[in-house]
Amino acid sequence: MLADKDRIFTNLYGFQDWGLKAAQARGDWDDTRALLARGQDAIIDEIKASGLRGRGGAGFPTGMKWSFMPKEARDGRPSFLVINADESEPGSCKDREIIRHDPHKLIEGALVAGFAMRARAAYIYIRGEYIREAEVLFAAVQQAYDAGLIGKNASGSGYDFDVFVHRGAGAYICGEETAMIESLEGKKGQPRLKPPFPAGAGLYGCPTTVNNVESIAVAPTILRRGAAWFSSFGRDNNKGTKLFQVSGHVERPCVVEEAMSIPFRELIDKHCGGIRGGWDNLLAVIPGGSSVPLVPAAEIMDAPMDFDGLKALGSGLGTAAVIVMDRSTDIVRAISRISYFYKHESCGQCTPCREGTGWMWRVMERLRTGDAAAEEIDMLFEVTKQVEGHTICALGDAAAWPIQGLIRHFRPELERRIAQRGGIIAEAAE
Ligand code: NAI
Ligand code: SF4
Repeated sequence: MLADKDRIFTNLYGFQDWGLKAAQARGDWDDTRALLARGQDAIIDEIKASGLRGRGGAGFPTGMKWSFMPKEARDGRPSFLVINADESEPGSCKDREIIRHDPHKLIEGALVAGFAMRARAAYIYIRGEYIREAEVLFAAVQQAYDAGLIGKNASGSGYDFDVFVHRGAGAYICGEETAMIESLEGKKGQPRLKPPFPAGAGLYGCPTTVNNVESIAVAPTILRRGAAWFSSFGRDNNKGTKLFQVSGHVERPCVVEEAMSIPFRELIDKHCGGIRGGWDNLLAVIPGGSSVPLVPAAEIMDAPMDFDGLKALGSGLGTAAVIVMDRSTDIVRAISRISYFYKHESCGQCTPCREGTGWMWRVMERLRTGDAAAEEIDMLFEVTKQVEGHTICALGDAAAWPIQGLIRHFRPELERRIAQRGGIIAEAAE
């Protein structure tokens, strides 16, 4: 179990004040000027050496992403950092805790990361429903301006750096990085085709890096404590500490910082008081937010909770939003509800997603009630394969994968419902 001294988020539960003085007492903003004096390349190299991978779900190496940004302004175009605080993945609730209780870690991280990638400003795009969190963030940004930590000559570094907070308006798709950029520009939030990646052409056509809240908030601590310290947690390719968000049928749902690669059973026993009704009562787990396929109980018990461990099980770490389902769960209904979510949130821009998400959800509903034909199980699987990888953004994949996981692992349950419903209809006809 991660020792208290190794936790980055020391006020995750809000036992102390979130304000500047309390944050400084916890070590935030401690001689930030000296951190910046190390120079842009040294900061990026340290983050690369730490092994930090993006905490928003995709796990792209953070230091490498920063290094894609131009070292010299091209055609007078400034560079920008966009911080993704749209956190809308069902099951995810970690960025919310950081903003509520440790906002200065994020703001200091914005300065350090923005400086390293030579950005003139950071835009923090916060989910519209996070009203109290936005209030905290606005106030914390103002505190940092008033104290001279950001703005002109930020933290006495000679570097000018602004931080803007922008509130979303409730669309899940605006969490996709290019839709977020469109939304920031005042347009309808619809994803752009990639490439070009934002580092080449992002906000207002300028070089831009989009990073998740957690990825940015951990950066100052990594620089202070060193890459070797951060990478001493986890295992190769899966380094560091990570915020896990455990919801569903555990005794005590929680958000907790743990070492990457902690085995699933240990995570649940140590922090959540075990599975409701005991371990034999576990049915399945969605380990990384609703976009990733479920994993049946027997397979996940001893799995390391990291990118590679969960990929090996045909799923993914995603945002580490761990949704635990016990045997009381109607698993077909649960996945059908997730299908509805993606149908509802599709921006409608590409045909496989616009048409496919609705089609998949309607078949899922028939499977839920047992009214589907047996052949529709294979047909549905085939349709998910036609959607996967054939859309502009990852929402198409996210709609396809949970259904694939259900069919792969719970096919007998789908067949049982169809047979049972068929029996009822036949009986009624007699
Ligand atoms: P992605 O793999 O397309 O990109 C990841 C990041 O790496 C992006 O910032 C992208 O610009 C950058 N990148 C990738 N290849 C690059 C290259 N060759 N050159 C330059 N930059 C490159 O993944 P995406 O679509 O950004 O994120 C998908 C993930 O988001 C899913 O796995 C899901 O877990 C997660 N997600 C998280 C949500 C949340 O609430 N936090 C909501 C929905 C999904
Ligand atoms: Fe929009 Fe769906 Fe296409 Fe993404 S995959 S761009 S959400 S239609």
